Amino acid sequence: MGIPNEFNPEAIAAKSAPDMRMYQVEVSSTEPMKSLLESNPEIYFVTPQGGSQWGTWEFKPGSYYDTTTGVKHPYWAEHRLPQPTKDIDQLRRDMVEWGYCKIAEALAPEQVDVLRDRVLEQAEGERLAAIAQKTPSGQNINCCVNKGRCFEQLIEQHPAAVQGGPLVEQLVTEALGSGWICTSLIASISLKGGVPQALHQDQSNALDSRSPMTVNVLTAITDMDESNGGTLVIPGSHTALAEAVRERKPVGKLPPAINIEAKAGTMVITDGRLLHGTGINHTTAPRIVMLNGMQKPWMRQQENWMLSVSPDVLRRASPKLLHRMGYQATTGTQTNEGHGFGAKGFAGEAAGATVAFRLAADAGEYVRVGELSSTSSEEELRADFTLRRVVGEARKGGQSAPVGISGMRLPSGEG
Ligand SMILES: [Fe+2]
Repeated sequence: MGIPNEFNPEAIAAKSAPDMRMYQVEVSSTEPMKSLLESNPEIYFVTPQGGSQWGTWEFKPGSYYDTTTGVKHPYWAEHRLPQPTKDIDQLRRDMVEWGYCKIAEALAPEQVDVLRDRVLEQAEGERLAAIAQKTPSGQNINCCVNKGRCFEQLIEQHPAAVQGGPLVEQLVTEALGSGWICTSLIASISLKGGVPQALHQDQSNALDSRSPMTVNVLTAITDMDESNGGTLVIPGSHTALAEAVRERKPVGKLPPAINIEAKAGTMVITDGRLLHGTGINHTTAPRIVMLNGMQKPWMRQQENWMLSVSPDVLRRASPKLLHRMGYQATTGTQTNEGHGFGAKGFAGEAAGATVAFRLAADAGEYVRVGELSSTSSEEELRADFTLRRVVGEARKGGQSAPVGISGMRLPSGEG
């Protein structure tokens, strides 16, 4: 029996020229970066050319990296750019208008000390182990959650590690809606001789969105300003870029970039659509910022927490930390062999909790449901499937798992 010609790859290709495709404009768009760089060529990515080039800092109007702080910048001095504050109303206004806000003293000095000591020790250890993750700007420490209890608490915004945690969480919830999760926790260390990072948006999808899909919670662990690589941002670019994409208009001339100035302990929340990048450290002391991105719960996370988190951390993790790392399934995301259908994705919700599967795998005891049939043996049918155990535990916990293992009742997602 011949396969119909319509299924022949060559016949499909002949009918799939770009102008014949559906949604071609949306799928192939390189906006807003294409027109952004055409209108603002001075912010084009700077190729690494050796540290000496970045050692002689002076303010140069028009350069996105040889810039300065908002208050010292001739263009921005007249504007009321975000200042560190604990006033939640002001923080909201700063986020909406400028795409970032600064929470003053979100960490107390002793909370900063704990993180700084741990970051510097870890950075040295990773260098000695010859696994340091060098970046053009310096050194990153990835997957911090495995590298100290203080990092677990930082992800949780636990007041023991972040005195301003409740305020930070309120703002993140307002920006992203409830149920948001964490994408990664990275220590970003900017070192002398490093190269400025290209300005970019952290949010890589839905760039026409009217509210952010991601936000980054940056914690200054050392003071930062124009001298040591204070994060570069173009204030207000979050809405300028989103509007251009939404209206299908090219991005025009943008205002100049500045270095964010922040005392250690300040948390800076940035809108995922804001243009930003790591600045140049002109000093000999490391500049440390914790990058703790948060996102809508349906997006893929930067860190693959499903594999990377250590068993010890998983076993002691609070329901909140597990949720934040993505270990709570919903009907549409991260279900594990069907466990999680019907779950809302709440922290501690047994009907969507998936960590038991990972721990079973760690122990070499994960029994997956494979091929079964009417001729399967009694032994095959009675196997100690991990799914059977997890669903049973979830029911025992008082939360009925909406998906039965017999008499399957699928609330949605079936089809
Ligand atoms: Fe970024």
